Amino acid sequence: MKNTIKHQYVVALLLSVITCSTMFSQNKSSKNFSIDEINTKVDSILPLLTLEEKVAMCHAQSKFSTPGVDRLGIPEIWMSDGPHGVRAEISWDSWDYAGWTNDSITAFPALTCLAATFRPELSAQYGMSVGEEALYREKDVLLGPGVNIYRTPLNGRNFEYLGEDPYLASKMVVPYIKGVQKNGVAACVKHYALNNQEHWRNIINVEVSDRALHEIYLPAFKASVQEAGVWSIMGAYNKVRGQFACHNELLLNDILKKDWGFDGVVISDWSGAHSTEESALYGLDMEMGTGTDGLGTSTANHYDHYYLASPFLKAIKNGDMDEALVNDKVRRILRLMYRTNMNPNKALGKINNKEHHDVARKIATEGIVLLKNENNFFPIEDKEGLTIAVIGENATRSMTAGGGSSELKPKFEISPLEGLKQRYKKAKIIHAMGYHTGSSVYDNIIPSNLNQDSLRIEAIATAKKADIVLYVGGLNKSHLQDCEGDDRQSYELPYNQEELINQLKAVSPKLGMLLVTGNAVETPWLSKVDGLLQTWYLGSMAGHAIADVVSGDVNPSGKLPFSFPKKLKDNGAHFYGEISYPGDGTNQYYKEDILVGYRWHDTKKIASQYAFGYGLSYTKFSLSNIKADQNKYNTKDNITVSCSINNTGNLEGDEVVQVYIGKKNSKVKRALKELKGFNKASLTKGESKNVSISIPVSSLAYYNESISDWSIEKGDYLIYVGNASNNISKTIKISVQ
Ligand code: GLC
Repeated sequence: MKNTIKHQYVVALLLSVITCSTMFSQNKSSKNFSIDEINTKVDSILPLLTLEEKVAMCHAQSKFSTPGVDRLGIPEIWMSDGPHGVRAEISWDSWDYAGWTNDSITAFPALTCLAATFRPELSAQYGMSVGEEALYREKDVLLGPGVNIYRTPLNGRNFEYLGEDPYLASKMVVPYIKGVQKNGVAACVKHYALNNQEHWRNIINVEVSDRALHEIYLPAFKASVQEAGVWSIMGAYNKVRGQFACHNELLLNDILKKDWGFDGVVISDWSGAHSTEESALYGLDMEMGTGTDGLGTSTANHYDHYYLASPFLKAIKNGDMDEALVNDKVRRILRLMYRTNMNPNKALGKINNKEHHDVARKIATEGIVLLKNENNFFPIEDKEGLTIAVIGENATRSMTAGGGSSELKPKFEISPLEGLKQRYKKAKIIHAMGYHTGSSVYDNIIPSNLNQDSLRIEAIATAKKADIVLYVGGLNKSHLQDCEGDDRQSYELPYNQEELINQLKAVSPKLGMLLVTGNAVETPWLSKVDGLLQTWYLGSMAGHAIADVVSGDVNPSGKLPFSFPKKLKDNGAHFYGEISYPGDGTNQYYKEDILVGYRWHDTKKIASQYAFGYGLSYTKFSLSNIKADQNKYNTKDNITVSCSINNTGNLEGDEVVQVYIGKKNSKVKRALKELKGFNKASLTKGESKNVSISIPVSSLAYYNESISDWSIEKGDYLIYVGNASNNISKTIKISVQ
């Protein structure tokens, strides 16, 4: 008897193990759904939904979520900012943080730093890592990356974007999006389009030529859709040619969905929707964050009063609007779900792990740009008896707090001072704040309660005790600085830093500077500093990355993704006065047209302080043997540019070969030259390496306004090869038949 029972137990146990494992294996199917499988499933679900359920899916149910359909097991969609890491949890129905204790994350470097690496492989690692953290935080949509073109150095949000060149932005955004989406988390490329300033962002109407629209402001979005297959996109706050970007017939229906074939979801910026009819007709699929003042009688029901809520439902019910409109939106939303929260293949994500910290450090270190290095100021050797004074508020100030919706609650944030202290074991590190700006609260700055004079006196006294002074200044994430919601109101360094730099120089024989910004600044103090590093906003690993470069553990290899004009009026957006920037409060005309950034400086022959693509190294590089594979090309050909990079110094290092192309005697207005290819190579000391860059002739096309399409002009072109837009080693003439 006993044996029988035992036998039965064993069988039962075996059966349960087998069932369990097959269950898991069913869940862990090997691949994601194909687009055909998804569309079939979407078509089978759509008829099951009531009109009320369909309309409800098209708008928010809370600050960062939209409803599912419980009775059919369709889940809610949860979203979170932002491009540099997963934002701390926000309350259901207000902008207040929820006060969770398990939502601290890895803060990755700002995207401007990622662009400065000129290394797409790092962008892939970035996207993969930040996507894993979003997955772990159970977010279906990560509200980033931002790719708005850097048109003016005053834009409060440039630090969130990928610089002034559409080709660089396109090349750097695609791997990020693919990396995020590999996790079954949707990226949401933003802000589509022409949101190139924060001042008056909610109301300004941008007027721009078709050429500038297609050649400068759209390419990174187009690459996100057609090369990265982005699953969602966020409409911008501003108007474009008279219609709000969140429901814009030209941008959303004609270009994004028809011409580019976008099959994902258009999500409004928060409170970016302003009309039921336009939202329904002109391409908005998911309305978020609509202000409830005057719309709802209470927080209890204000989501019902969204433009795509009851007014939309009513319009369809009484026949004023076709149900096909809501069906298309819901198809897109269901497609997003099958790619994210209804994808059975989803993993669990990872957060705050060493791998992510290493990725954050690698990107930060590779993005730092060496702008000036006289008297071999950098690297600073760690040696006994040496005293280094680290001075400036940005040596200790958090740069992940503030800045607007991209702000983060990192598990840790190594400050520049902390990083230097941990790295320098022999030298003595002393510190003084030098200046204090008060805490950065999103909407206002609490004035410093510290006496600025006493801070300066203390800093000078500290500097006198040191052999080397490292000034850590720049901007910060306060309102009217590098922060969402408005722009800087002047180009120079704020908080009287120039005065402090001058006084530091007067007492310290060797003065170097770390510029902590996401934007260019005026540099009248440049002659006072021997060494200058552009150190961006680097996130959790900031201090370690800065110490890597300052100490020489890593040879800096970043290149500027935007120009530093000497004066603000040297910048194209500011050349034409207020109507061009910031506009007259209603309209704004991008009068510099296609001549943005270095395109302006090169074509108008206005030298910048530092040029797009510029960045020094601790070693020396030269380019030689520069050539193109042919001198005559057809429009279907690829141009192969090759050259040797020679590391003539005694340190390993990385160099970025950049290839620009310009049209000679063009029949249309053109920039002198435009970036069409780049390649970053690592070379040991003394090494020479051959690199080749392939450029499709089709990429030389300009947007022909007379036919509203791209045209390739026949004739002669010049290929410019160098390691910065203003440091060309050779030009080669070719012709296109
Ligand atoms: C903000 C930003 C946008 C952000 C959204 C949600 O206003 O413009 O980038 O994703 O609202 O915070």
